[in-house]
Amino acid sequence: MLDGADKVIVALDCDREKALHIGKLLAGQAQWVKVGMTLYYAYGPSIVSEMHDMGFKVFLDLKLHDIPHQIRGAAKAASEAGADMLTLHALGGSAMIEAAREGVEAAAASRQTRTQLLSVTVLTSMDSESLQRVGISTPLTEEVRLLAQLARDAGSDGIVCSPHEVGALRKDLGSDSILVTPGIRPAGANPGDQSRIATPAQALEAGASQLVVGRPIVQAEDPLTAFQAVVSEVN
Ligand code: C5P
Repeated sequence: MLDGADKVIVALDCDREKALHIGKLLAGQAQWVKVGMTLYYAYGPSIVSEMHDMGFKVFLDLKLHDIPHQIRGAAKAASEAGADMLTLHALGGSAMIEAAREGVEAAAASRQTRTQLLSVTVLTSMDSESLQRVGISTPLTEEVRLLAQLARDAGSDGIVCSPHEVGALRKDLGSDSILVTPGIRPAGANPGDQSRIATPAQALEAGASQLVVGRPIVQAEDPLTAFQAVVSEVN
């Protein structure tokens, strides 16, 4: 395993066939893959097992948001399916996050590790105007910081945030919080639909503990070389 490989989470936003293909190419080199709703809803928990069987840890990005009773069960089930990290919406509130924590702790009894919980604050697809339209008049950055603090106090292990927020959250939450940032583009890479981007080095310098990188690796002609290039930038 390359030094620094644990800091790069490869987002498998593709179909199962391609996910398995990329998995084979990166096996033994990458440590983390991200399975999102599209892949998980199509193939279920078996896609998580398949990634584990290839030797990867799985960041299961399901962004849970429901009443505490439902979330306790969902987090337990996702943990038992093999999620090493699991996402949920901080907007669900303290009781919901506490329930998720209870769910992953209940699952930890039969697993060797406890699933780490990461909270999403304000989706990066939203701006100040769309936040106001859903009735939230708190300035966007303040809302992100408030939700991040609430999530941590309720038992979340970390936050998923943009590279532009990671510096402020690192200061607020301290050194032990997991801060995972998507929106990463190696210097010169196509930004695609991402607008608030940073290079791997910039995001880590700003305080990120891990980076989510999708298309720059998955859509590259040579995904292994693209992965190695991101890791060398991390180092
Ligand atoms: O292909 P790309 O590197 O842009 O992929 C980024 C990944 O991070 C995608 O899976 C996307 O869903 C996810 N993500 C994001 N912005 C967020 C949260 C997650 O881009 N705020």
